[in-house]
Amino acid sequence: MNTSILEARALSKIFDTAQGDLLAVADISFAVAPGEFLCIVGPSGCGKTTILELLAGLLPPTKGQVLLAGNPLVKPPPEIGIVFQKPNLMPWRTVIDNAILPLQIQAAPPDKAKQSGRQALAMVNLGEFAQAYPKELSGGMEQRVALARALVQQPNILLLDEPFGALDALTRERLNLVILRLWQHQNLTAVMVTHNIREAVFLADRVLVLSPRPATISAEFIINLPRPRPKGVEYSETFGALAYEIRQAIKE
Ligand SMILES: Nc1ncnc2c1ncn2[C@@H]1O[C@H](COP(=O)(O)OP(=O)(O)OP(=O)(O)O)[C@@H](O)[C@H]1O
Ligand SMILES: [Mg+2]
Repeated sequence: MNTSILEARALSKIFDTAQGDLLAVADISFAVAPGEFLCIVGPSGCGKTTILELLAGLLPPTKGQVLLAGNPLVKPPPEIGIVFQKPNLMPWRTVIDNAILPLQIQAAPPDKAKQSGRQALAMVNLGEFAQAYPKELSGGMEQRVALARALVQQPNILLLDEPFGALDALTRERLNLVILRLWQHQNLTAVMVTHNIREAVFLADRVLVLSPRPATISAEFIINLPRPRPKGVEYSETFGALAYEIRQAIKE
């Protein structure tokens, strides 16, 4: 029986560079259960973004395959939304026009697209900024627009590539709560890459630890903390012990 919604099956990725072949991901296999929150941690440059882009169908694997609900993935599907390390907003487009870009690319009817855009902006608490331009936003707000753009097609899988890595700790904490709320209320499956171990423990049901490049899975941790995460859980002994164990498993 296939109980995974997303599966990496013996995935390898070799980049063809001026210096020759570069093996970024080496024979990685893992499965994500429906509704799961999976975090992937690993040292810088180990292949985390590459893995996420393979899962999203944005990058073809050199070997192996990605399965979406058991079917081979050949192109980016509407069921998967992705948020990148940088917001990549178009400065000449308003917030809502940035958010609905994926719908416009598919030539969705303009009225419907705007309506979906307004819904997605409301989910990230940016409803009042629909007509603003990116230069009028803070870094945290820009990343929320990027999140709205990922949600606009009502995906059931959300892939997040260190979405808040460039933000201050408090904003990051607040946006992680936004992610958790969306994950819970929209019944999403989430895969988030981060190199912040405590963030991974706070958010995830399970954490995969990657080796230095080429990325292989070097350890896996089940995070058995209650949901919703109780206030102050980050300061509990169990939390600290898990974070320490994960830190020990990361080799640089
Ligand atoms: N398009 C590309 N062409 C050539 N090499 C690439 C390409 N994308 C990534 N790489 C290489 O693959 C390796 C893994 O890169 P990747 O961006 O996946 O790492 P990462 O774990 O996301 O790093 P970081 O934590 O810094 O974001 C690096 O050595 C990088 O130089
Ligand atoms: Mg990266």
